[in-house]
Amino acid sequence: MKKQDKLNDYDGFVEKFKPKRTTDDCYTPPAVYEAVKGWAMKKFNIAPDRPIVRPFYPGGDYEHYNYPPGCVVIDNPPFSILAKIKRFYIERGIHFFIFAPSLTLFSGTIEKLTHILTDSTITYENGAKVNTAFVTNLPSPYVLMTAPDLAQLIKEANAQAPKAELPVLDFPANVLTSARLNKIASLIKFEVPRTAARFVRTIGKERKGLFGGGLLVSSAKAAEAAEAAKAAKAAKAAKAVKAYKYELTPEEQANVAALDNQSSQR
Ligand SMILES: C[S@@+](CC[C@H](N)C(=O)[O-])C[C@H]1O[C@@H](n2cnc3c(N)ncnc32)[C@H](O)[C@@H]1O
Repeated sequence: MKKQDKLNDYDGFVEKFKPKRTTDDCYTPPAVYEAVKGWAMKKFNIAPDRPIVRPFYPGGDYEHYNYPPGCVVIDNPPFSILAKIKRFYIERGIHFFIFAPSLTLFSGTIEKLTHILTDSTITYENGAKVNTAFVTNLPSPYVLMTAPDLAQLIKEANAQAPKAELPVLDFPANVLTSARLNKIASLIKFEVPRTAARFVRTIGKERKGLFGGGLLVSSAKAAEAAEAAKAAKAAKAAKAVKAYKYELTPEEQANVAALDNQSSQR
């Protein structure tokens, strides 16, 4: 780019200062939010006249938000500061029912909270797909629960949400791209002689651009790559089932015995 062009590149300048979309910026599709809110209100007996608030939005400051008396926070917060948010509400006695990433649901967990798992992959408005769970300090005797009925509601709401998914590209086997080969690269040795390939930038009569370009290869090499992809998939699946078995320590066993004792006295 020439110096003058650089000076005139106003769009590029503006783009630099736009807030970036990270995992903290997953906007909840309205249908999903309404499904979650409706379920939470019913399940946790939230009176219809209690104000429901959403203090998490771009430029928001949940620590200085004006919480009306008796309100319940039902919202999707930035996941990176979840532990701090939970502590803040607990210390101030503010009820919350918030979204949380399911994989780290118990991090910074406090036994008086209720953790709700639904195995729901929510497609957020920026296209990100996150396996989402929920955590609440609304009164409940449970520290953990699954909620198949909520899972079903989210599934139906997700189906209504406009799709932000990338199209699935199905290139002919003779086209090798980096993305295709990365699936086998750490597992299977595969080489393409210079004489068996031509570099291509687009493919098909539509002249579909290949991101980063690709190689058009001979049918023998294409068949070899397809076989390698199958073998890599099988190897990954075999690796995934090998589980290491952990045992409880004597101290943990004593805790379990104490819990057993407590439950049997009820
Ligand atoms: C996961 S997004 C969800 C947005 C919205 N609540 C929703 O459900 O669609 C989290 C939002 O929290 C905002 N956020 C980040 N830090 C915050 C803070 N300290 N106080 C309030 N909002 C914050 C982010 O900018 C982002 O918009």
